[in-house]
Amino acid sequence: MSKKILIIGACGQIGSELTFKLRELYGDENVVASDISYSNLEIVNSGIFEIVDAQDYASVQTCVQKYNIDTVYLMAAMLSATGEKYPMKAWDLNMTSLFHVLNLARAKFIKKVFWPSSIAVFGSTTPTDYTPQYTIMEPSTVYGITKQVGERWCEYYHNKYDVDVRSLRYPGIISWKTLPGGGTTDYAVEIYHKAITDKFYDCFLKEDTKLPMMFMDDAIKATIDIMNAKKNDVKIKSSYNLAAISFTPKEVAESIKKHIPEFKITYNPDYRQTIANSWPKSINDSYARQDWKWKHKFALEDITTEMLKQLYKKYK
Ligand code: SER
Repeated sequence: MSKKILIIGACGQIGSELTFKLRELYGDENVVASDISYSNLEIVNSGIFEIVDAQDYASVQTCVQKYNIDTVYLMAAMLSATGEKYPMKAWDLNMTSLFHVLNLARAKFIKKVFWPSSIAVFGSTTPTDYTPQYTIMEPSTVYGITKQVGERWCEYYHNKYDVDVRSLRYPGIISWKTLPGGGTTDYAVEIYHKAITDKFYDCFLKEDTKLPMMFMDDAIKATIDIMNAKKNDVKIKSSYNLAAISFTPKEVAESIKKHIPEFKITYNPDYRQTIANSWPKSINDSYARQDWKWKHKFALEDITTEMLKQLYKKYK
């Protein structure tokens, strides 16, 4: 079992909730949160926090050695929409940070790595419904390219250097604690905020754009489950397909209207529509379900109820 954990990118949407959960499971003294800046004061002020530049090997290594870290969760990344604005920055951040962590594991400074991949590894030539684990992968975004290449490198480091790196292809993640930043699936979080503050949302995707999605609690559970699974049970060394539900903007709007009848939505698709069009509508994650017994819990109605409940409290 892990004793000393470092989360890189702990101020972000997933990193922050992962940090809270890991502190709860392993104790505040065994979990080091880190990020490039103090951008999430709740994380910074609630436990051990270090400034770490994921693109600087020495910065990561210094932190790993200072705290005798054995497990790293690398959650820093530039997502799909921002990546299209800054292609080279996305490439540099997403690849350099992964190599640094893989090389620290290869050099035996750390024992275990978690690195997230994404549904963005798929592209417009991939079968869109119930997308299999092994299929055509021609990603069209820089983000998707970095995730697909990263998967290949994870498997390579496992085969060549016996590095224990585990990975999941996250769908869009819905949560209320920390806002997502720069993703194509961000609409599914924004819509709940706007439903409460404005009773109105102008959606940047078309009403019938179906994408794979997951509630944060399920994503955190999957992440911790795969990290705690027996090494032999984690058979896929690149990255596992992972799924919960799929829905369209129209379906979320309808589920919100059950709670807020006056809620209105309009649709003004922008450049993110092209990205969404290239991604699967639903994912076949049967390997995760078989190999390490993955099971999701939250359906759309559960997510809507929980999101509105938590956000009402937040905005009060
Ligand atoms: N949520 C991510 C994005 O939209 C997909 O992994 O970029």
